[in-house]
Amino acid sequence: MAVTLVIGAQWGDEGKGRIVDFLSRGAHVVARFGGGSNAGHTVRVGDKTYKLRIVPSGVVAGVDHCVIGPGTVVAPGQLVAELDTLEFNGVDTSRVWVSDLAHLILPYHVELDKSAERERGEDALGTTGNGIGPAYVDRVARTGIRAGDLLDMHRARQALFARTHAIRAQGIAINLDVVAAELEEQAERIVPHIRDTVSLIHGELQAGHRVIAEGAQGSLLDVNFGTYPYVTSSVTVAGGALSGLGFGPKDVDYVIGVVKAYQTRVGGGPFPTELADKEGDELRERGAEFGVVTGRPRRCGWLDLVALRYAVQINGITHLAITKLDVLDTFYQISVCTAYEDTGKGSLPFAIARGARPVYDAMPGWLKTTVAARSWEDLPFNAREYLKFIESYVGVPVAYVSVGPERNQIIVRQDAPIGSAARVR
Ligand code: IMP
Repeated sequence: MAVTLVIGAQWGDEGKGRIVDFLSRGAHVVARFGGGSNAGHTVRVGDKTYKLRIVPSGVVAGVDHCVIGPGTVVAPGQLVAELDTLEFNGVDTSRVWVSDLAHLILPYHVELDKSAERERGEDALGTTGNGIGPAYVDRVARTGIRAGDLLDMHRARQALFARTHAIRAQGIAINLDVVAAELEEQAERIVPHIRDTVSLIHGELQAGHRVIAEGAQGSLLDVNFGTYPYVTSSVTVAGGALSGLGFGPKDVDYVIGVVKAYQTRVGGGPFPTELADKEGDELRERGAEFGVVTGRPRRCGWLDLVALRYAVQINGITHLAITKLDVLDTFYQISVCTAYEDTGKGSLPFAIARGARPVYDAMPGWLKTTVAARSWEDLPFNAREYLKFIESYVGVPVAYVSVGPERNQIIVRQDAPIGSAARVR
């Protein structure tokens, strides 16, 4: 057994949480490798809906270990609230582990995030306002405070107060005595969850157990490869799992790219296939496209295969999981972007930033409900054709198709790497 990476192949909100929940049945560890509580992963089981922001989605399925890895940024207050909510709902959180190397998001990061957005005015990035960017800035500037620092509150306080001048210089009025007092309280709750997650993961790998690395956000929001500057501040692509959890490429066997059957984006930035019309509204309403974290309506459009092929390349995606196929059930005709017009030279993000105009292929819809489909053969012919078109364009097989929010609404293709009962532990 080895590591399976589950990566968002678009602009986030692809439905990674439920795919991870599904794959968790065959895993011992689920680990988040980047981002923070800007993520909003939804897992629905029966009449219960779990909205997770930093705790890995595997917690719902009850995997042995849920790891918040070294590459993440963790808001202590938010983590405590999430653990409490999960416990209140009967979910055991005793094996949620926070890497001692993970950096903390402190209240001044949130203030800095908000003030930077205000300063950007019309060019605001549309961040989730969770302090993600400023926390990562502190990490690379080597002025951050890590979860492991909470094990020695005296030193953590010193590190915090050493920031006084820099925080004031940035115009943030914040009482560090209050921040320190809150942190001390939160530390009491968090410290039992802090540990060396690197040796934990390697111990599990040596024991032959499967580890799922759960991506957050999407490839087009990656700080290097995304539509910069309209990106998040972490490495969201497959490479980020290696540097964010601490293992090498030889440990990875599958890279599953999660793709919505259409395209959405929340926040600012270019979006070539965006639909500002009735079809866009229909996608939003049928797909309930409103942010888990901010409640913001998501921008909706047709599937962009040019961008998907790029995501397959930069992640080394081996299999696709297509989500929300059922949202397209009512469309008479479905468009897919297969090229951009006049983009000039340069990498894809620059082409998109230069206002790439999509060229579409039109495909007939299936006008039948797919929500009850449980196998590939149950899907309408045109739906299968749509999926096959995606496969042949990007050169990667579709292994999973989801047709609704329930656990049993995930179709597993015959040659899917994991997920069928026979192949899991
Ligand atoms: P930040 O990560 O809060 O700094 O936000 C930067 C950009 O990433 C904004 O456009 C956000 O809307 C977007 N973003 C961050 N996290 C998510 C997510 O989980 N889903 C979708 N978009 C996200």
